[in-house]
Amino acid sequence: MTYENIQRDDRDGIAFVTVTRPSKLNALNDQTIGELQHCFDALSSDDSVRAVILTGEGEKAFVAGADIGELSTQTSLTARPLAMKGQHLMDTIEACPKPVVAAVNGYALGGGCELALACHLRYASENAMLGLPEVTLGIIPGYGGTQRLPRIVGRGRAMELILTAKPIDAAEAHRIGLVNKVFPQAELLASVEKIVRGILRSGPVAVRFALDAVNHGTEMPLADGLNYEATFFGLLASTQDLKEGMGAFLEKRPAKFTGN
Ligand code: COA
Repeated sequence: MTYENIQRDDRDGIAFVTVTRPSKLNALNDQTIGELQHCFDALSSDDSVRAVILTGEGEKAFVAGADIGELSTQTSLTARPLAMKGQHLMDTIEACPKPVVAAVNGYALGGGCELALACHLRYASENAMLGLPEVTLGIIPGYGGTQRLPRIVGRGRAMELILTAKPIDAAEAHRIGLVNKVFPQAELLASVEKIVRGILRSGPVAVRFALDAVNHGTEMPLADGLNYEATFFGLLASTQDLKEGMGAFLEKRPAKFTGN
């Protein structure tokens, strides 16, 4: 598939995915959602890729929302499938078996905030603004925002962001745990890449299981989640990576993991 509104560049095991509609502040129209879906479906099963960094083109926006021009033409028959299509993309990103990290380089509003919420980690530039302004348009967040935001920042803060519809700056987003860290814009991508390369130095199977245990385990009752965690812990005991990781520590040398 040829992409028009996104770009994928692979470098040493990391796929850099950029939304490339800067004239519309990278707003997610139907085509862009379809291209992202195709891209993340491919990335999820591509063994040459061990992590993904997602960002937006330009210095102004990560993604300024779902495309309001398209939203304005929805009917009661088309709006639900539209929400489900967006939700399917966000579910695919969240379920990706390798770390997906958002480099939020400017506005992340509405669907853009929801896109960042579906990623496993979020880092922002100092000029970033994040929020869910949907109610000002007479709609509600439809790509998972009402569900993922409270799970990340807590119900009270999520309710405030959704009901007041007021975007918050990067510092506030960091304070409430919506983003993991804030960097000067010029340093954002390099800093995120450095963090991701650090993750890639650890055991690949352990990283994959940790993602799965947090993603799925936290949706279960505590006893089931703990059982799920223990099962992964047990499975890891049969991996070469565990022998290598512990052997390297005991021999005081860097580990060389193979992902087996
Ligand atoms: N959907 C469609 N187009 C969008 C968009 C969106 N979500 N966000 C921005 N754009 C377009 C603008 O219409 C404008 O296009 P034009 O030049 O053809 O008129 C272009 O991107 C630049 O945006 P502009 O509004 O001129 O930039 P700004 O710096 O004055 O304001 C924002 C930036 C982000 C504050 C403003 O664009 C905005 O409020 N966007 C909508 C945010 C939103 O409500 N998102 C949730 C949607 S569910």
